[in-house]
This record gives sequence, structure tokens and C-alpha cells, in this order.
Amino acid sequence: MRTPIIAGNWKLNKTISEAVDLVSQLRLLVEGTNEVEVIVAPTFTALSAVSKTLEGSSISIAAQDLYWEEKGAFTGEVSASLIVDSGCSHVIIGHSERRQYFGETNQSVNWKAKSALNAGLIPIICVGEMLEDREVGKTEQVVKDHLVNGIANLTEEQILNSVVAYEPVWAIGTGKTATPDQAQEVHALIRSVLADTYSSANVADRIRIQYGGSVTPASAAALLSQPDVDGALVGGASLEAESFADIVKAAQQ
Ligand code: 13P
Repeated sequence: MRTPIIAGNWKLNKTISEAVDLVSQLRLLVEGTNEVEVIVAPTFTALSAVSKTLEGSSISIAAQDLYWEEKGAFTGEVSASLIVDSGCSHVIIGHSERRQYFGETNQSVNWKAKSALNAGLIPIICVGEMLEDREVGKTEQVVKDHLVNGIANLTEEQILNSVVAYEPVWAIGTGKTATPDQAQEVHALIRSVLADTYSSANVADRIRIQYGGSVTPASAAALLSQPDVDGALVGGASLEAESFADIVKAAQQ
């Protein structure tokens, strides 16, 4: 009942022309895969060109971050409405690299999520523990903390227009994918926190939860077959059209 959602987070990769080439190829490879929602998240500078290239296609576009203020003296920042203006429908928020290198906090994630939703963007809200958290048994505590504070005061309507991404930091860019069981365990936890937070029937059941961390065409099918894994947030394997398209196809089965 939840449509699988596969997103490619390109991080700091691809010039504008490389980005246009990649989505031109991708479009041919995934056109017609209606049962899967496909998203690409290029750098800010490539958003407009990618959006033009994807006109009329079913592939959606996400930005990789935003700033919560609408406009003003905030040098270097990009607001939700500018992201909409550049052709995006989604935005990634709270990625672990932003938490690790750029001072992202649960509070800023929450402000960003609200700002995105107010502008009509669908936030992909990232949560996930570091290796040292997992090793001392704090996975549940960290994931709950990221989630509960990141989505604080979002209405039912707003959370239903959001996506959650579970990205264990130790699995990102390391080639060490979480096992399907490890992913399922945390996804089930996330869904139970959502069920506790939103008591109306079915709200938690309708929210999609993506897994991210070294997803490849080889690992995708087993991860996606887990009952609470509704999609993937793909880094490295999204930088090449064939491998990303293969992950999209794995979500169809
Ligand atoms: P990798 O797929 O390269 O591990 O990156 C995952 C990620 O951070 C997606 O947001």
C-alpha cells in the first residue's frame, strides 16, 4: 500500500552538464516504472538544468538542504521557495553529513522541515546513529531523539506529506550495508514512534521510511523486501544511471 520511493543523493558531485547527461540516461532507463517513485537530488547549481531536462518525465527532483528563512540577509543560503522555483518537489533534511560537518541540529532540522512543508515541498527527514552509538547500544535512543525532535509539532497532514530516511552513519559510503534485519529492526522502531506520536488510525502505516547506506543493485532487493523498508536513499550508486536504474527496478519486484 506504500509506493516504494527511491532517491539518489548526488552529494557534492557532477557539473551541470554531467548532471544533465545522467538524468537524460536515467529517464530512458526508468521511464514507465509507475509503481516506484523516483527522485534525484543534484547540487543546487544543477537543479534548474536538471528540471528542464526532466520536463514531462515522472522523475522528481530534490534539493539536498535548505535554509528555513524565506529571504533576507542570509549570505549563501537557499530558501524553500527558491528550491520550488528551481523545479524541486522534495528536499533532503538532516543528512548525517550536514549534522557532522555543518552543525545541523535536531532544532534546525525541525525548522527546515516546517519551512519546506509550508512551501509545498516534501521533506525527506534523515535520522541515524553513528558506529559508536551502535556499539554501546544507543541506536534506539539516538534514532528516537533525531526523529521525535526533528518532527516536533508537525501536524498529521504535514507528517503524511513527509518521508523519513534511516541512514546509519557507519553504513554511509563505507560499503558496509546494514543487513536487512538490522534495517527492519530500526524501521519498525521508527514506525512505532510515529504510531505513538500520531494516534489517528493509519497515519504511521502510511508514512514511507527509506533506508540509506551503501545501497547497491546487489543489496537493494533484500533490503526492500523488509516489511517496513519502503525505499532507498542512495549515494554512490546513484551517480551512474545503470546502477541507480537497477535499484529502481529492484523496488518494482
Ligand atoms: P552511500 O549510498 O554512498 O553509502 O550514501 C548513502 C547516503 O548518504 C545517501 O544519502
